[in-house]
Amino acid sequence: MAIRKAALRASVAAGLGLALTLSACGANSAGSGSSGGSAAPAAGGVKVGVILPETDSSARWEGFDKPMLDKAMRAEGLDPDIQNAQGDEQKFSTLADGMISSGVKALVIASISSDGGSAVAAKAKAQGIPVIDYDRLNLGGTSDYYVSFDNEQVGALQGQGLVKGIGDRAGAQVIEIEGAPTDNNATLFYNGQQTVLKPMYDSGALKLVQKQAIDKWDNQVGGTTFEQILTGNGGKVDGVVAANDGLAGAIVTVLTKYGLNGKVPVTGQDATADGLQAILRGDQYMTVFKPIEQEASSAAKLAAALAKGDTAAADAVATQTVDDPKGNRQVKSVLLTPQLITKDNVKVVTDAGYVKASEICVAETQAACDQLGIK
Ligand code: BGC
Repeated sequence: MAIRKAALRASVAAGLGLALTLSACGANSAGSGSSGGSAAPAAGGVKVGVILPETDSSARWEGFDKPMLDKAMRAEGLDPDIQNAQGDEQKFSTLADGMISSGVKALVIASISSDGGSAVAAKAKAQGIPVIDYDRLNLGGTSDYYVSFDNEQVGALQGQGLVKGIGDRAGAQVIEIEGAPTDNNATLFYNGQQTVLKPMYDSGALKLVQKQAIDKWDNQVGGTTFEQILTGNGGKVDGVVAANDGLAGAIVTVLTKYGLNGKVPVTGQDATADGLQAILRGDQYMTVFKPIEQEASSAAKLAAALAKGDTAAADAVATQTVDDPKGNRQVKSVLLTPQLITKDNVKVVTDAGYVKASEICVAETQAACDQLGIK
């Protein structure tokens, strides 16, 4: 991922401004399960469409993105129609057709696949509707802007977390359960992980048992796939790369069945309530905290600017670029900063108001919460 250094600096400054804006608003949490919606409905606001990809791949889409986008967009004077394609490409396309014909002034898409997303972006473009790729870049697409996190960095944090969790067990055996092959982010997470892990596989410090990508990030399939690899390896594993908290949860269920939970570090991503609980229990080693309020806010600002045709204002928000190797172009972007979370700093996530202490401090984790000052 090519990021221009100067642009990166500019956007760090912009990001600080964003953080100030968020805290000035009280940044009340729309934690998982919450429906958000504290902002007044923008009656007569500018209509924009948002399509999210799945509900089963991660708790984030319905638990965080939906309420946070709704709130951020209403704060920008927009009237958002936020739908979820439920992992169904046909539904994704039908939802987009409906939004385009209803006269949305901008479309924000987190697509299931680059091909599906690119097809939608082309249709919107033909109607003069600007498109923002949200979280997932559509390779070979035509979207005007992209808002996400530094996804290679997410992967690098997973690699670092795993290595720390494994400690100095020479030749430790690693199983990698990766995201969907049609999601460019899964490739970026993998690439980031390998910056840390590949040299260690090459030197023999770690041993890769097997890596497997999971279609649509299906958590259940991730668990059964992991179990097959584990039993195929004689029940031996010393560390697991799970590309997100949903996959990690399914893997921890399998590890528990074999009495291995808590003994084998498992990575994650999304700082979901379930993931954080598993970390506090000691069943999951780490997660990656991606403050989605910032992502939602950037997307809302871009959509508001583009809906007015104000590309200068949009360019002032999207000061970075990413490379689309398939489309052979640079896409104007906002790339936010992810943070590594292990047991000792889970409090960062509750202090940010992203997840409430009450969602993670339950009977079996209460002692850890007390010890870590999470309340
Ligand atoms: C997102 C992750 C999410 C995964 C599965 C990725 O594109 O960046 O946050 O866990 O999709 O939904």
